[in-house]
Amino acid sequence: MFPLRVPILAVLVSLALCQEYDYDPGSVLGPSGPNCDRECECPINFPSAMYCDSRKLKFVPVVPTGIKYLYLQNNLIEEIKAGVFDNVTSELRWLVLDNNQITSAKVAKGTIDKLTALEKLLFSFNNLTEPIIPPSKSLEELKMTNNKLTKFPSGLLNDKENLTSINIQFNELTSDAISGAFKGPKKLLSLDVSHNKLKKLPAGIPSSLEILYADYNNIDSVGAGYLNKLPNLQYLRISHNKLVDTGIPAGVFNVTSLVELDLSFNKLQSIPEINEQLEQFYLQANEINKFDLASFCKFIGPLNYSRLKHLRLDANNITHSSMPPDSSNCLRQASDIMFE
Ligand SMILES: *[C@@H]1O[C@H](CO)[C@@H](O)[C@H](O)[C@H]1NC(C)=O
Ligand SMILES: *[C@@H]1O[C@H](CO)[C@@H](O)[C@H](O)[C@H]1NC(C)=O
Ligand SMILES: *[C@@H]1O[C@H](CO)[C@@H](O)[C@H](O)[C@H]1NC(C)=O
Ligand SMILES: *[C@@H]1O[C@H](CO)[C@@H](O)[C@H](O)[C@H]1NC(C)=O
Ligand SMILES: *[C@@H]1O[C@H](CO)[C@@H](O)[C@H](O)[C@H]1NC(C)=O
Ligand SMILES: *[C@@H]1O[C@H](CO)[C@@H](O)[C@H](O)[C@H]1NC(C)=O
Repeated sequence: MFPLRVPILAVLVSLALCQEYDYDPGSVLGPSGPNCDRECECPINFPSAMYCDSRKLKFVPVVPTGIKYLYLQNNLIEEIKAGVFDNVTSELRWLVLDNNQITSAKVAKGTIDKLTALEKLLFSFNNLTEPIIPPSKSLEELKMTNNKLTKFPSGLLNDKENLTSINIQFNELTSDAISGAFKGPKKLLSLDVSHNKLKKLPAGIPSSLEILYADYNNIDSVGAGYLNKLPNLQYLRISHNKLVDTGIPAGVFNVTSLVELDLSFNKLQSIPEINEQLEQFYLQANEINKFDLASFCKFIGPLNYSRLKHLRLDANNITHSSMPPDSSNCLRQASDIMFE
């Protein structure tokens, strides 16, 4: 596998160096900096990166001064011992720990809790039961998918003014366990809480949010006015949940910002009202048994029509013949309406 983020040219140059000076011929990264842990590689032509990925490491090695980008993914790490980051607490920007076996209890005090400049924390496919959040106010991206998170305490992200993306899908989070968790980051754009145990959409989300994915949970209703608090939301996915008609207040999805709405694989019997601006609408695999044109257009006229392009209604209890004759005027931009 190619190392992440090393420009091709740098790799070629270091390959050439390898040949000329007979450095370790097995390495594609070229000679290592002097303080590099001997299990890892710190390319001299990219001295701020340390590559320790995919080499069966059991521990996080001591990270030398000057390292900003640290790659530790695909190892057998179970533990992060105190002190390993002591020389980079205010320098380390990216920490990649994906695909290890780290448990929350084995992340010692004096490690991640000292990192004040971290921008990216990638900690997916581990055994964390609670999130580990660095004190860095510069955090931009947080990925902790495929762990065993059962809680995400409120307030942990309060000072993360630059955090734009949170991925915590494939965990064991309940609605109570995340209440108030995402209030802090005022620039948050994207939140993925799919494949958890939520009973409702997350509460208290910053109004900056543009993307919210909550597929594969136990959500049976959406609170009235929920989307009015998210005026920038464009993409909303709640597929593979337990939504029923009685859990959908009138007009709850009728907001102008939405471009894509995925309600597929639920238990809806009628089509919720949507705004004229919506372009993609997924409703396949529900129990829909009538086609109510008023869900798409309350009025039809030269300027009053649905912008819908794709509509999926397959695996429901309706066919093309359920559509009223004036549908084509309302749905004049729909190039693709699927019934089967
Ligand atoms: C850590 O910093 C100390 C003090 O600057 C230095 O002596 C030591 O060599 C550094 N260790 C590493 C692994 O960079
Ligand atoms: C991490 O979780 C996996 C899968 O559940 C398990 O097989 C493994 O023993 C766990 N490792 C640790 C260190 O807890
Ligand atoms: C947040 O991002 C802006 C723009 O990139 C930057 O100027 C600012 O220093 C960042 N804030 C923190 C706390 O890192
Ligand atoms: C959506 O809301 C707007 C503004 O309140 C309203 O004019 C429109 O008829 C509604 N659309 C549907 C399909 O209910
Ligand atoms: C039709 O659309 C126009 C322009 O968007 C709007 O001003 C008007 O109120 C709409 N008419 C109806 C009956 O909704
Ligand atoms: C499907 O629709 C038909 C005709 O509207 C109705 O007779 C039938 O009971 C419906 N089946 C289900 C499972 O809702």
